[in-house]
Amino acid sequence: MPDFVYLNGKILPRGEARVSVEDRGFVFGDGVYEVIRVVRGRFFAADFHNRRLRRSLEGIRIDLPANQSPEKFNEIAAELLEENGQLEGEATVYVQVTRGVATRAHAFPSPAVDPTVYISTSAFKPMTRLKEEGTRAVTHPDLRWGRCDYKTINLLPNILASQYAVEQGATEAILIRNDEITEGAKTNVFGVLDGSLRTHPCNNHILPGITRSVVESLAAELGVEIDQTPIRKSEIPKLEELFLSGTTTDVMPVVALDDQPVGSGKPGPVTRRLQKILTESIYSSAPLGD
Ligand code: PDD
Repeated sequence: MPDFVYLNGKILPRGEARVSVEDRGFVFGDGVYEVIRVVRGRFFAADFHNRRLRRSLEGIRIDLPANQSPEKFNEIAAELLEENGQLEGEATVYVQVTRGVATRAHAFPSPAVDPTVYISTSAFKPMTRLKEEGTRAVTHPDLRWGRCDYKTINLLPNILASQYAVEQGATEAILIRNDEITEGAKTNVFGVLDGSLRTHPCNNHILPGITRSVVESLAAELGVEIDQTPIRKSEIPKLEELFLSGTTTDVMPVVALDDQPVGSGKPGPVTRRLQKILTESIYSSAPLGD
């Protein structure tokens, strides 16, 4: 299969793409990224991703040159999908922008250098069985910084929490800060408690997930209200349902947390309704298998 990527103005085979050892992404993790879901060449919620990428770039003060923009990156990604034979079926697009190449010094390069832009695409298979049966998660301290609302490539606390989850036989680490669930290492987290659907408010302690906001509007369509009051650690034993949301996760029921069943130990009704309506929304204008 062809496997082309985009790096700094060129489309080239993945194996030939080279980034300098002085790239600030490599040296400092100084950059931001996006992951976009694609079904049959159609980008899901592209505008939301583009807005978030702009916000992350502004947040860490990376300026794109005048001829570049998140929308231009979408066009390049569409070209890659075609080159890579991924216009049928499902795929993800990865976009990463770093502050560029400069001799190592913490403060921004002066004079400024062009950012490094890397775009790749991958074939994607949804986690159908886990979405059907539900998955296991573990709790882990949220050790991240104070601007989790920017989608930066600085992911060390997420990586360590994810690895802990894997070592416990789970697929996600649910992060706890100040005795409250913030989000997952790579997902947002929703829970049902006393019949009401709860999730952490969108502030600097969580990533404003695109799937989270799609779920929010779909829930409103169903007449399901979302209470943005964080779930406290002490409330975990009382959870009736728990689920994750994310670009590659969709709505994923969590049926066990720290080896304790959540609710009945099976995916719950609110989770199922939202899962169904999200799936319909993702596939509606690009149905597969017809
Ligand atoms: N992760 N929270 C965190 C910390 C995330 O990294 C992600 C996404 C989400 C869900 O956001 P969205 O619905 O926009 O995908 C929440 C991506 C997929 C990743 O790092 O691969």
